[in-house]
Amino acid sequence: MDTSFKVAPSILSADFSNLGDEIKKLNETDCDFIHIDVMDGHFVPNLTIGPDVIKSIRSLTNKVFDVHLMMDPVKKYLKDFIKAGADILTVHHEISEDSLECLKEIKRNNILAGISIKPSTPSSQVIKYLEYVDLVLVMTVEPGFGGQKFLNSQIPKIEEIKKMTENKNINIEVDGGITIENARLVKDAGANILVSGSTIFSKKNYSQIIDNLRMA
Ligand code: DX5
Ligand code: ZN
Repeated sequence: MDTSFKVAPSILSADFSNLGDEIKKLNETDCDFIHIDVMDGHFVPNLTIGPDVIKSIRSLTNKVFDVHLMMDPVKKYLKDFIKAGADILTVHHEISEDSLECLKEIKRNNILAGISIKPSTPSSQVIKYLEYVDLVLVMTVEPGFGGQKFLNSQIPKIEEIKKMTENKNINIEVDGGITIENARLVKDAGANILVSGSTIFSKKNYSQIIDNLRMA
């Protein structure tokens, strides 16, 4: 995957009673990915959606489905997400299973793989995954809920990962609390994919806010 700048709306903040229409609306914008947060009520204290919902919206758009798996266990479900139409599967470093094994399984299925780290996990923990991943997802809030405040403390971590991935074809995705105000900060630190839930879905005109994030 190329490492150009990308915007990934997170449908966690979409109107779930009109999910199909929300996906169609995003399809008409120039967003790059659609970020889908899967939460299991165990790895994180919230429950969201599973493969059947992803499958049901797959036919509505050709946008890249960027699926963020906040799940533990996760390995036995990877195939279901791949069959449902995920283009990118990101697993967490902090799970009780072997994350590297999960990444290898994802790559064996010829889709893109990502590793994510929570705010308390140091950047050094991603080194062992770099050979196997297309992206590193840096959480800038505690995973579990949309609409939380961006953690400035994560900026140096983005810079460190940027250094580690220099000359590698690896994307740096940032997720949590992204606003027009902090988007520039995050980009300057080295991120090239911005996930955004509440900032995008709180506005009527998704295209406008996506453009604003892109240009920030
Ligand atoms: C949080 C999720 C995020 C969330 C971001 O655990 O991983 O993707 O939807 O939402 P905002 O942009 O509102 O922080
Ligand atoms: Zn996410």
